[in-house]
Amino acid sequence: MPLAEDFAQYATAAEAAFAGASDSATLEAARIALLGANGQEKDLTKAFAAAPGDEKRTLGPLFNAAKGRAKAAFDAAKARLAGAAEDQLIDLTLPVERPRVGSIHPISQVAAEVEEVFRSMGYGVIDGPHIEFDEFNFSRLNIPADHPARDHQDTFWLDHPAAGPGQRLLRTHTSAVQSRTYPALKPPFRRVVVGTVFRYEAVDATHDNTFHQVEGFVVDQDITVAHLVGTIRTMLAALLKRDDIEVRLRPSFFPFVEPGFEVDVRLTKAEPGSRFARWMELMGCGMIHPNVLTAGGIDPAAWQGFAFGLGLERLAMIRHGITDIRVMHGADLRSLHQFGN
Ligand code: DAH
Repeated sequence: MPLAEDFAQYATAAEAAFAGASDSATLEAARIALLGANGQEKDLTKAFAAAPGDEKRTLGPLFNAAKGRAKAAFDAAKARLAGAAEDQLIDLTLPVERPRVGSIHPISQVAAEVEEVFRSMGYGVIDGPHIEFDEFNFSRLNIPADHPARDHQDTFWLDHPAAGPGQRLLRTHTSAVQSRTYPALKPPFRRVVVGTVFRYEAVDATHDNTFHQVEGFVVDQDITVAHLVGTIRTMLAALLKRDDIEVRLRPSFFPFVEPGFEVDVRLTKAEPGSRFARWMELMGCGMIHPNVLTAGGIDPAAWQGFAFGLGLERLAMIRHGITDIRVMHGADLRSLHQFGN
């Protein structure tokens, strides 16, 4: 009975068409083609009407079942699409999902700014290895093997320290880049180094075993402490981004400079009694020691210069009012996001 098969095929096709409709326009097009006034169902109705009377008795229930399936599939699709439209309404009570935007680490930020400031003053930016020889980290900086100044910089040794100047260590300061680059430089020159340094230290609010330093050095004729002070002021004004910085120089000892100074800063607008309201030691500097120039192949009778070194963490902490250095490498993004940009 071919008409019975037509009914079944019609119902199956209708179910597939309605179930596959993904928007209301598609659904409406399917409804017109199947259930509409000139649709497929109408054609089947005409065919059924033309069927002989005795066949109608068996065909009737089959046709009704097919129509029922088509109608049910249509109703289901309609309900589904109405529900989907409702889902698209914005629920204003839901918490906002914020886009996760990264930020530059405060240390990377100051590092980039340091390089920029010194480039603008005619300095070349250079780099050196983290694993350094005793010779460059100490000996050529006027710190011989038995010198007590070594005790100031607790060192991660990679080889046994007693064995001599060829021993390797993790550089304790960026001053090592001075001594390792002098032989390759022809005076006059200005260079700045920004890099990671390491100390065998217990970690607390003001000390970390891994931190960052800037080292700057200038070798020329007629260079004086006045140039040094002017350079330091220019640098701090550009980097600290505060208008309440007070600076003082104190005579101090560093084996690689003579005379040597320590630079202290305080913030006049800081809360009275807070750490930033008191003088804070910020950096060391001085006129490069003749022994250091000689060790680097530069004649100290013809050339002189200044050098300075400071910690980037300290700089970033003063700038942002951070009182604990552990924020810097603690990987707590909630803290770091506040200071980065
Ligand atoms: N290298 C010293 C340190 O890490 C800092 C320093 C002091 C660097 C005086 C200098 C300087 O260039 O002149 O403690």
